[in-house]
Amino acid sequence: NFCIYFILCCAECFRPADNTASVLLSGKYNEYHFKTWMSQHSKDYDLTEYSYRLRIFTENKRTIDHHNAGDHSFKMGLSQFTDMTFGEFKKSYLLTEPQNCSATKGNHVVSSGPYPDSVDWRELGNFVTPVKNQGHCGSCWTFSTTGCLESVTAIARGKLLLLSEQQLVDCAQAFNNHGCNGGLPSQAFEYIRYNGGIMTEADYPYKGSDAPCQFVPGLEAAFVRDVINITSYDEKAMVDAVARLNPVSLGFEVTSDFMHYKEGVYTSSMCSNTTDTVNHAVLAVGYGVEEEGGAPYWIVKNSWGPSWGIDGYFLIERGRNMCGLAACSSYPLV
Ligand SMILES: *[C@@H]1O[C@H](CO)[C@@H](O)[C@H](O)[C@H]1NC(C)=O
Ligand SMILES: *[C@@H]1O[C@H](CO)[C@@H](O)[C@H](O)[C@H]1NC(C)=O
Repeated sequence: NFCIYFILCCAECFRPADNTASVLLSGKYNEYHFKTWMSQHSKDYDLTEYSYRLRIFTENKRTIDHHNAGDHSFKMGLSQFTDMTFGEFKKSYLLTEPQNCSATKGNHVVSSGPYPDSVDWRELGNFVTPVKNQGHCGSCWTFSTTGCLESVTAIARGKLLLLSEQQLVDCAQAFNNHGCNGGLPSQAFEYIRYNGGIMTEADYPYKGSDAPCQFVPGLEAAFVRDVINITSYDEKAMVDAVARLNPVSLGFEVTSDFMHYKEGVYTSSMCSNTTDTVNHAVLAVGYGVEEEGGAPYWIVKNSWGPSWGIDGYFLIERGRNMCGLAACSSYPLV
């Protein structure tokens, strides 16, 4: 390749003061990473899109490398989102409007403890379904809801079913949910309760876009007897619920640093901690304490597929209402 040869040669012989050669070389290096990443994630672009995505990828990779060179409690990494700006990511995957997650006095009754140092419902039995992928639809709240109801039902009935997110996307509007434009787990549990149940994933498969409601009475596979909300910002009550009862649905604010999360305990100074900025819903399946340093964390199931984060999961700091994670948590009684 003449171009590469020329650059190397030029760099060797002239050492240009403006550093053009090393900039060009690092451009080749970025493009190499980009192409490898493209094939890993089966991405394909036309020519204009290619150079635009390469630019964003390079920018994101610089952010990731810079973060990982520093001293942080979590690592960033490449993911299926590395070719997107945070603005694009937000529009496709997050709740863009504030939801009705207002500070509430909940109806969860806290016991006196004591609680184990760590709990992981994935290890306590066959209680947690595999990580799913919401695709380009602001339907995180439906995955948080099914994930929680799947676990609560499995704990109560001994049978782990996959439940339908699409039914919630299509049919739960009367409870202030808005399909791919957002919703809240507690409002989705209310829908399931008053609807008289939810169908299985197999009977009502996921499309990842808004569609007319196709609920079929008689095919309900799981039920909600009552909806339990945990008092806003009472993170100890969340520990109580996860330790004694089941996984718990929670909302929090995703900021740009979270999009690149790879592993470790996520903490952020970018996000806020109030009800009005919550833009993502997920499922706490356990908690623990880091062996080194003793940082307390939640173990959280996400809905961005199994290749994001730690096999689709992430850890987030526990005990400080990090990113508003204690703002609106809930679970169903079955
Ligand atoms: C919040 O609740 C009010 C009253 O129930 C409703 O009119 C409004 O649409 C809700 N907002 C969202 C984003 O769901
Ligand atoms: C939010 O964070 C601020 C600053 O750290 C803190 O003073 C406040 O108590 C927090 N509020 C809630 C609801 O957690």
